[in-house]
Amino acid sequence: MCDSDRLDSILLAYGASKVDNFLDADVFILNTCSVRMQSEQKIFSYLGKIEEFKQQNSDIKIIVMGCMAERLGYDIKKRFKSVDLVVGTKDIDNGISKIIDLCCLKNSFKKINSNVKLRSKIVSHITIMKGCNNYCSYCIVPFVRGIEKSFDYNTIINKCSLVVENGVKEIILLGQNVNSYKYRNVDFSLLLKNVASIKNLERIRFLTNHPKDLNDNLIDVIAKNSKMCSHIHLPMQSASNKILQLMNRKYTYEYYSYLIKKLRFAVPDISITTDIIVGFPGETDKDFEYTLNAVKTIRFGGLYVFKYSPRPNTKAFEMSDNVSTVEKKRRHAIILEESNKISAEIVSKMVGSKHQVLVENIGNGFMEARTKSGRKVFIKINKEYCGKILNVVIKEAKVNSLFGDVID
Ligand code: 5AD
Ligand code: SF4
Repeated sequence: MCDSDRLDSILLAYGASKVDNFLDADVFILNTCSVRMQSEQKIFSYLGKIEEFKQQNSDIKIIVMGCMAERLGYDIKKRFKSVDLVVGTKDIDNGISKIIDLCCLKNSFKKINSNVKLRSKIVSHITIMKGCNNYCSYCIVPFVRGIEKSFDYNTIINKCSLVVENGVKEIILLGQNVNSYKYRNVDFSLLLKNVASIKNLERIRFLTNHPKDLNDNLIDVIAKNSKMCSHIHLPMQSASNKILQLMNRKYTYEYYSYLIKKLRFAVPDISITTDIIVGFPGETDKDFEYTLNAVKTIRFGGLYVFKYSPRPNTKAFEMSDNVSTVEKKRRHAIILEESNKISAEIVSKMVGSKHQVLVENIGNGFMEARTKSGRKVFIKINKEYCGKILNVVIKEAKVNSLFGDVID
């Protein structure tokens, strides 16, 4: 997401603009993900469609970037001859603007301004670290994103200050494992405290965390600093200790639930969201039942559930993928159904409650705002609300949307 944002700013500064309609594009840029095979298959299918389009419109340019470009490299060009450029994640680190300068786009846009113009927006994503050393046995990220590297503390603070000067009210700090951030003597909690001291910044969120790196200092900052949002994404993956060990997650379910208790004790209204994988090699009915029971007991604020997908180079790739596709689908549907039921119960209980929301956007017929816990609230259109923190009372709750009235 953040690479897309960086690319967006650079291309806008070059005079390019986004199009709503596929047929109006001069350049197609596919920012890809390799985490699951399905994401790669989707890209192949898009590429097939764009390639057909290029047969009638030979001037268009096709660029593939991101993890899949890193993993497959020029094999993508071998399969789809009309692809003009493949830019891997490691190339991106060498500077997107340099690549754009060098590549086929050189003459495609009139260069207006070589300084990246910051678009005025309310929420900004800032990457604070990249890569991962955890080597969860199913995960391709360490192979396509490389080893963990925390970015220079001063550069991060300067970037945050700059976006806030440009009108941003909420910063989302990003990294594969933000809570293992360490730059010289600055750890993640200290970084958060210092980002929070930026004047005119209203809110801070961060994504994503590894349970093994969630320490008391971090919980303390979330609890005590009023700019910190009451939300944490804490991937659980499974609640079976046998599967957690096979996944190389480095914690047990008991430890995970101990963290949940600590978080809820320190921040009573915290929303905890998670990721779950079903159908990991060796996952029996019993192992799955542990995970389902954990979902029922913990009552996550939301969750993403994935069917295990074997990825080349990973440890799990060598294990037998012995849960059938049908069974993976069944387990996936059960977790999803349970999670939707819990979400519906959580949001229906919110009707009548008051919340502080940050208005992020003008949407379709409504203003889009967000509670500190990360829930979207739709309120009536008023352009002046954009970027403001307002008090609202929740009037109506639907599965994933809340509707509120402004009360001041
Ligand atoms: N198969 C299925 N899900 C995966 N994830 C990562 N790798 C795989 C895989 N091989 C999921 C994990 C992770 C999220 C981003 O994607 O749940 O937290
Ligand atoms: Fe992948 Fe996250 Fe595990 Fe790193 S911590 S290997 S990114 S699942």
